[in-house]
Amino acid sequence: MKKRYQQWLAAGLVFSALAGFVQQAERAALAQAEGGADLKTMVAATPESIEAGKALFQAQCSSCHGTEGKGNGLAAAALNPKPRNFHVADAWINGTEFSGMYKTLEEGINGGKSGMNAYSHLPAKDRVALINYVRSLNSAIYPSVTDAELQKLDQDYDLSKALSEDKKNVPIPVKLAIEKLVQESAPQRKKVTQLAEKVAQSSDAGAVLFRLASHDLARSLTVLSHADPAWKGSLNDFVRLVSADLGQNGFATGVAGFSSAQWQGLHTYLKSMI
Ligand code: HEC
Repeated sequence: MKKRYQQWLAAGLVFSALAGFVQQAERAALAQAEGGADLKTMVAATPESIEAGKALFQAQCSSCHGTEGKGNGLAAAALNPKPRNFHVADAWINGTEFSGMYKTLEEGINGGKSGMNAYSHLPAKDRVALINYVRSLNSAIYPSVTDAELQKLDQDYDLSKALSEDKKNVPIPVKLAIEKLVQESAPQRKKVTQLAEKVAQSSDAGAVLFRLASHDLARSLTVLSHADPAWKGSLNDFVRLVSADLGQNGFATGVAGFSSAQWQGLHTYLKSMI
């Protein structure tokens, strides 16, 4: 009888110890949710994060920074300053620290004027993955992440909240331009279609270049006509606009190998049309 009592007692003790553990884990989770988040864990360069970053990089950044991040993407020839080479520590404006790179993706460099746009429309988790991938390219030039810089990012950009929000399907500028076209009145749509037909038949050197550069003339014209018109006044802005959403904006990888002169020709032609 006494033995059975002891067994129950032992089981009870084990149970309450377990319950204590569970409570502790819950408290930790709660603290995390309340903003005491373990940011270091959330931004850790896990193999999954690096892998996700690599795929995002090929889709969003390689047109300028090159498939291997060497700063020699398709659009690089026409850009000045050149896209950063991620294998060397030269001339970084916001620095190679994690926080400097995060700032770049939040704000762009010089408000995007230099050719480097902000990517704040991407979910924070994707931006972290991109940074983790880039930093994996040459560990020698990227210092480890410190608590202090993460705290600063949390203050400046609400990082822990952004990371837990799991923002999805944020409209990107190209999608907005295409949506606008769909909503537009029939005469405006007709205008773009007519313009595209004109380009398709023209033997003008500019039209030939445009046909080389675009696999969907109407789509490219739509995107250009709805974009911030600053691209008309600046070759850099134009290259940035075309290269940033390459593939989705009607422009094709046919711009591969475009020389600086060809970019200029394309720019001159398109700004005269729109
Ligand atoms: C349209 C071309 C273009 C695209 C697309 C592009 N970049 Fe850039 N990027 C640039 C240029 C140009 C610079 C150099 C800016 C300068 O020196 O003023 C740059 C610089 C940078 C820098 C260095 C900033 C510093 O501190 O000097 C980082 C980091 C960066 N880009 C990340 C990315 C990532 C990540 C992507 C994809 C999400 C991306 N870029 C897409 C053109 C581009």
